[in-house]
Amino acid sequence: MTAPLRVGLIGAGWMGHVHAQSWAANAPRGEITAVFDTSDDRARALVDARTNGRARVYKDLGGLLADAEIDAVDICLPHHLHADAIVRAASAGKHALCEKPICLTFEELRAIRRAVDDAGITFMTAHNNLFALPLIEARRMLGDGTLGRVMHIRSNEVGRNSGMRQRRSPVAHLPAAEATYAWRLDPVRMGGAELLDTGYHGAYRLLGLAASASGDFEDRPIEVVAMLGNYYMEELRPGEDTASVLVRFASGVQGVLVTSWAFGDVAPAWQFEVAGHLGSLAGNVTRLVHAAHGWSSPAERVWQTAHSETYTREVTHFLDVLREDAAPLASWQHAARTLQLIRAAYRSAEERRIIPIPEDPATL
Ligand SMILES: NC(=O)c1ccc[n+]([C@@H]2O[C@H](COP(=O)([O-])OP(=O)(O)OC[C@H]3O[C@@H](n4cnc5c(N)ncnc54)[C@H](O)[C@@H]3O)[C@@H](O)[C@H]2O)c1
Repeated sequence: MTAPLRVGLIGAGWMGHVHAQSWAANAPRGEITAVFDTSDDRARALVDARTNGRARVYKDLGGLLADAEIDAVDICLPHHLHADAIVRAASAGKHALCEKPICLTFEELRAIRRAVDDAGITFMTAHNNLFALPLIEARRMLGDGTLGRVMHIRSNEVGRNSGMRQRRSPVAHLPAAEATYAWRLDPVRMGGAELLDTGYHGAYRLLGLAASASGDFEDRPIEVVAMLGNYYMEELRPGEDTASVLVRFASGVQGVLVTSWAFGDVAPAWQFEVAGHLGSLAGNVTRLVHAAHGWSSPAERVWQTAHSETYTREVTHFLDVLREDAAPLASWQHAARTLQLIRAAYRSAEERRIIPIPEDPATL
């Protein structure tokens, strides 16, 4: 049997805990053997809670990256720190999984690409919603041509962020350090607002569906127009809490992304809807509905699964990519296109016009 992948976890906040649970669920294929957080208390608390006290705690990133007994890092840091951590990890020869968004600027995107290529390491971004079972099945059906030629894809990532409004910690008993929401209110460290943070999930889901619908043709967004607004999260102003984004793909497919922290607490019926010449699909975390034109009633599949399992399957996929040469679903290319789409949407809202999107994903 192959030895477990030894993982250094960087960032012991909310997502640090979620990822640590996901690594534990993937044992014995991988395990967290080291942790670094600028809050030593948080690093130690995570080690105790999630690794039975076994993982080593480092006091700086350089120390963790110099550890020869670490094969890969898992980066769960605030947004403005992603690029530097990925580049340093690659330069130290560590494979890297990094939370979304991959980084904040096109310059950072290019630096990550260079560092990953030069080091020959495996890099993946944490696009956990790609691992929702109904979405995986929908993408398989689109690839098989079930809907015929696809015309329209809609991706919804909406909810009400009352937790952030009330400054509630999403992790129980997290030792005191900067609150999970504090850096999100700083546009420099956040790099945007709701569209860049939660809207990022809806954006990569839209791109993933379009890629599956286009078969061998490498589809990509070619035009974007967006409207932003702030309806609930006053503390984010002038940043948005809601965005509506229209996307035209090279294939002719129209895409719509709706994302919000201001909508109701009740989850929307669908996270995605796809319309094609032969019928339509709609899905969420547990359900997928397919209706071909002419059917008297739709076919429905239901999975016994939960959103939390998307993080577990994301780690499983990272291990499959590393250990079994699986093609990474959340590659640099996929992440770069996602950031490009979001930056184009911000520019569209600012300049109040349609923004053309260049072929090179690290430019706009
Ligand atoms: N996929 C998802 O569903 C999802 C959900 C929430 C957050 N995220 C992403 O996870 C990442 C982390 O977000 P979070 O909510 O866990 O934030 P958080 O604030 O809860 O955790 C960040 C941790 O990083 C530590 N930290 C800050 N600066 C550091 C530094 N220079 N070096 C080392 N540690 C440092 C903090 O002490 C904190 O413990 C973000 O990219 C965010 O977008 C993803």
